[in-house]
Amino acid sequence: MKFFVDTADVAAIAELNDLGMVDGVTTNPSLILKSGRNILEVTKEICDLVSGPVSAEVVALQADEMIAEGRKLAAIAPNIAVKVPLTWDGLKACKVLSGEGFMVNVTLCFSANQALLAAKAGATFISPFVGRLDDINFDGLDLIADIRTIYDNYDFDTQILAASIRTVNHISDCAKIGADVITAPPAVIKSLASHVLTDKGMDQFMKDWAKTGQKIL
Ligand code: G3P
Repeated sequence: MKFFVDTADVAAIAELNDLGMVDGVTTNPSLILKSGRNILEVTKEICDLVSGPVSAEVVALQADEMIAEGRKLAAIAPNIAVKVPLTWDGLKACKVLSGEGFMVNVTLCFSANQALLAAKAGATFISPFVGRLDDINFDGLDLIADIRTIYDNYDFDTQILAASIRTVNHISDCAKIGADVITAPPAVIKSLASHVLTDKGMDQFMKDWAKTGQKIL
């Protein structure tokens, strides 16, 4: 399963990238706002850093304008995936942009039927939002499993990019279901390394080591 980082924070991406943990990056208008950066400049910086797909989202509501914005975003770098919303216009933009050879990530997906439409429109990635479904007492992971079944039934190439990932359990559950990609904030990815028993074990080892009075260096 690929790890994408859901942020426009270049320093945070660089830290994870140095460890080989970054297969791609996803951004959206809220993350651009949070970064305080110009979308074109920060996206270019991220694309220079990361070799995998970098999603940059259009903000127009009509298909024609989405397509124009998508072409402009795609011109930033060859590894741009144009992100369009799962609306009827977004699907039209997906069809045109994917037909032109650009990677397209269809975002704000909340149902299996929406995911089916995105695949038929030629999406490279579908982004179902796990956490936001959990927020309204639906099971976001059930959606990932349903899309996996449907895509496998018909051999769709569209990759399932599980988004709105909030917890480490979301990540392991997505891996068990067979999501192709998860995108998560840097803090969630880093917390995968944490375990209370690791901390406890380290504490014991350090205490015992101090008692030996030895040094390695
Ligand atoms: O990738 C989509 C993601 O940024 C949304 O996450 O936590 O705002 O639902 P969240």
